[in-house]
Amino acid sequence: MDKVTVSAPGKLLLYGDHAVVYGQPAIVTAIDQRVRLTAKKIPSSELLIDAPDTNVLKYNKKIDELGKNEIPKGVNFIEIAVTNFYKKYHIKTGLHIQTKSQFKSTFGFGSSSAITVCTIKALCLLFNKKLNNKEIFDLCLKTVLEIQGVGSGFDIASAIYGGTIYYIYPGKIIKPLHIQDLNLIIGYTGIKADTATIVKRVAEQKKTFPKLYDDVFLLSGKIVNAAKKEVEKSDFEKIGKLMNLSQGILESIEVSSKILTKLILAARESGAFGAKLSGAGVGDCMIAIAPKEKTKLVEMAVKKAGGQVMKVKINAEGVKIEI
Ligand code: MEV
Repeated sequence: MDKVTVSAPGKLLLYGDHAVVYGQPAIVTAIDQRVRLTAKKIPSSELLIDAPDTNVLKYNKKIDELGKNEIPKGVNFIEIAVTNFYKKYHIKTGLHIQTKSQFKSTFGFGSSSAITVCTIKALCLLFNKKLNNKEIFDLCLKTVLEIQGVGSGFDIASAIYGGTIYYIYPGKIIKPLHIQDLNLIIGYTGIKADTATIVKRVAEQKKTFPKLYDDVFLLSGKIVNAAKKEVEKSDFEKIGKLMNLSQGILESIEVSSKILTKLILAARESGAFGAKLSGAGVGDCMIAIAPKEKTKLVEMAVKKAGGQVMKVKINAEGVKIEI
């Protein structure tokens, strides 16, 4: 095979934000907003990348120089993924990679992880390496950790496996959950959260009260385990109440913000069963769950409070070949 196109879904973290970095469980769902990547073998011994969504066009690097010198932010996950794969299999073939995303990288939907997964999957297909999902996961997690230094890998698992999964770092448990649509309302704050910076800040804060933070994260794990049962039963009211508890935890470790709190309260006050931030916090998105008949009211309230309402479907398919 000389050319292949693959796609992988973005994600929404439903429960377990931050605590998942410390070994507690999380629940994540894949969404129907995808990134696409086409990889093609080329005769010159270079890696060429066109990534219009991150404003990098006609990027090129000699294969022998891969991973070296400065790499633009918009293509670093692709280049390091190619570097790791090429090193593992001693490959030197020239490559042209093009990407296209259905969502902005600022939403916090996990575009970097989805692109990393697409890169490794495409290379497996191009060079006929039969890696199973867990082997792809391990290579992607290595890539992301090399770049960010921190991260639990839940977003990588979501991009690979799709659906909704119960996850424990570092892929110790990746368990599919069979859940129905949850009638979620998603509000984007308009602020891009820098996940690595926020995760490092929490690690710093934890040093002052390490045992207390451990207890807080343990409680997060208990909420996730309770939520696992309720999402499988589609009990919207309890799912919402558990989101509120989860938000309390995230407030306590100081990762919420004025705008997130505003959108969350607007959702709850207009009839949502519950709402919380999703992901790193500070910015990105909040999620709420509401009775079907209250959807419009909650959406309007979130908009009025300054949020951009996003329409997404959950339980999307994991990484796949595009024809
Ligand atoms: C960020 O989307 C979620 C965090 O839990 C970090 C991670 O799990 O990698 C804050």
